[in-house]
Amino acid sequence: MKLNNLLIIALVISFLFVGCERVKKLVAKKEIPEITLQEELNPEKMARELWKKIQEEKYRVNWKMWPGKEAFYIGGSEPHGALLTTYVNESALKTVIDKREQMPSGAIIIKENYMPDKTLDSITMMHKIEGFNSMVNDWFWAKFQPDGKIATAEKDGQTLILAGKVSTCIECHGRQSANDYIFTSPLKKEVSEAVKVEKEISDVEKMANELWNKMQSENYHENWKMWPGKEACYEGTEPHGAFLTTYVNASAHEAIVQKKEKMPPGAIIIKENFLPDKNIASITLMHKIEGFAPDVFDWFWVKFAPGGKVMTEEKDGETVTLAGKVAGCIECHGKQTSNDYILTGPLKIKHTY
Ligand code: HEC
Ligand code: HEC
Repeated sequence: MKLNNLLIIALVISFLFVGCERVKKLVAKKEIPEITLQEELNPEKMARELWKKIQEEKYRVNWKMWPGKEAFYIGGSEPHGALLTTYVNESALKTVIDKREQMPSGAIIIKENYMPDKTLDSITMMHKIEGFNSMVNDWFWAKFQPDGKIATAEKDGQTLILAGKVSTCIECHGRQSANDYIFTSPLKKEVSEAVKVEKEISDVEKMANELWNKMQSENYHENWKMWPGKEACYEGTEPHGAFLTTYVNASAHEAIVQKKEKMPPGAIIIKENFLPDKNIASITLMHKIEGFAPDVFDWFWVKFAPGGKVMTEEKDGETVTLAGKVAGCIECHGKQTSNDYILTGPLKIKHTY
């Protein structure tokens, strides 16, 4: 029995020397669960095997670079180089392209760190080995000198070998734990965010259409008051029209008359924007909806074309729908957060502008 166990241990150790792939397979199959493999792992040896492996695979020739990153791209920040080239093996590449959330076991990322003059300074690597360090997504970390020697670092008078579970790497990369400890680009996030934004856009457009129908059915031209003290077609300012007419619904009107500090939920302000020739250009609107956007006082913003279509705007090559939490509106109106984002006039009496 005892001899048997010893034999198994010897077997495992001999496999370890063969390379990381072997370790991976053994752990994956969990053939010998009673042996704590991690104690037997020799990070230095594994790092040397890893170096040998990537040289044999001629990664510079046979591997692809991180999608979207050229050779010698400018490094984002310390501690990696001023210029970076990042290679990925096939399984890592597939993960990036398919936008999977996590790198699979076997994935290798090689980052070459260059000085500003393109001298190679070091090579840092992440290699996922199933079972290696499950607390932190099984990454094996290593830093090499250009000649392939494992880099070291001095810490508290001790020389650390930068291979294996390297705490400095893990601490910093840990900020990206939601992205499988990876900085270079989001693995899956992009996709889900795009979907979310699309969904939000269609929701806010629907809300805007309902709002348009509501103001038409209430016949605001006839039944709502204008902003107290403002006539029809008063002279306007950028970016609103040359002339403006500002209507308010009953609850917004009451808040102005009573000099309340804030508009209540349900308040609607409609600003008709006219061209210098007094033709209508657009209709901009603020509608306070409880819970819609608490961080910006719950205002729903929208810009309609004269016919009621929600307008769009080109910004940085993207089409922005001008409905909902519209950044452009919020930025400028945000100058008056103390006045509930309103610029036509002060709400509270003696408001200092
Ligand atoms: C202080 C923070 C910090 C430390 C410490 C750090 N890194 Fe990084 N690492 C980064 C950042 C930031 C990037 C992205 C760089 C870029 O693309 O501009 C990165 C990228 C990488 C990449 C490419 C894959 C990815 O995550 O985007 C590898 C491989 C890598 N680091 C390995 C290491 C190793 C090995 C160590 C330890 C020896 C280490 N790093 C230490 C911040 C750090
Ligand atoms: C660059 C600044 C700026 C931007 C951007 C801007 N506004 Fe305004 N907005 C103003 C100013 C100034 C007024 C006051 C005009 C007046 O009545 O004299 C105003 C007034 C308004 C009013 C009347 C209520 C109030 O706050 O006084 C509404 C409604 C309105 N804007 C909606 C919008 C919408 C919707 C957007 C985005 C599509 C937008 N605004 C973008 C500056 C801006």
